[in-house]
Amino acid sequence: MKPYIISPSILSADFARLGAEVDSVLAAGADWVHVDVMDNHYVPNLTIGPLVVEALRRHAPRAFLDVHLMISPVDALVPAFAGAGANLISFHPEASAHVDRTLTLIREHGCQAGLVLNPATPLCHLDHVMERLDLILLMSVNPGFGGQSFIPGTLAKLREVRSRIGASGRAIRLQVDGGIKVDNIAEVARAGADTFVAGSAVFNSPDYAATIAAMRAALDAAA
Ligand code: DX5
Ligand code: ZN
Repeated sequence: MKPYIISPSILSADFARLGAEVDSVLAAGADWVHVDVMDNHYVPNLTIGPLVVEALRRHAPRAFLDVHLMISPVDALVPAFAGAGANLISFHPEASAHVDRTLTLIREHGCQAGLVLNPATPLCHLDHVMERLDLILLMSVNPGFGGQSFIPGTLAKLREVRSRIGASGRAIRLQVDGGIKVDNIAEVARAGADTFVAGSAVFNSPDYAATIAAMRAALDAAA
């Protein structure tokens, strides 16, 4: 497993130049591309649908598309996002009536599967599904918008999930999403995260490569 993955969120990219933004961020050293899908129902915002994912897949055939679904109900759209070219699909347990079924559905459609826990969502949702997970995503902001501040309580939650992953003996990635910056990424890594979503920190910076390099340097120093 690659020790650290940086997955810039295109939520903060220039949507009028989305293909070029994805090219730039990959050229700047991003490992994955994080796609925030919001439905104005599960979260109070409306963003990207499968047609946009399909266009990005055509534009960047080798990009790893990390698709974060903030939509409810989620099952009906899993085949659409998988067919559009998602590599990994993550969803929130509150958005699925049958979490085990949704996880199975994602894998049956050839994608890696992730479960996302909001700041106030308890870790018991991980019970009984660890063997179906490729990734656990802890939200470090309430989902819906980029540019919010990291919620410090996430650090304790990360430590707890890291120990659950260790106990499971499985190669499950531990992702964190919301308010990740150059100056807090090391602390978040020390708490146990290995996969980092960063939207505004990357796309609102003047030099994507310099920002991603600074994040990697902070991660190397944290190790
Ligand atoms: C929030 C999204 C995040 C967000 C991160 O609902 O899931 O991916 O875009 O943005 P920053 O890094 O700006 O907090
Ligand atoms: Zn996200």
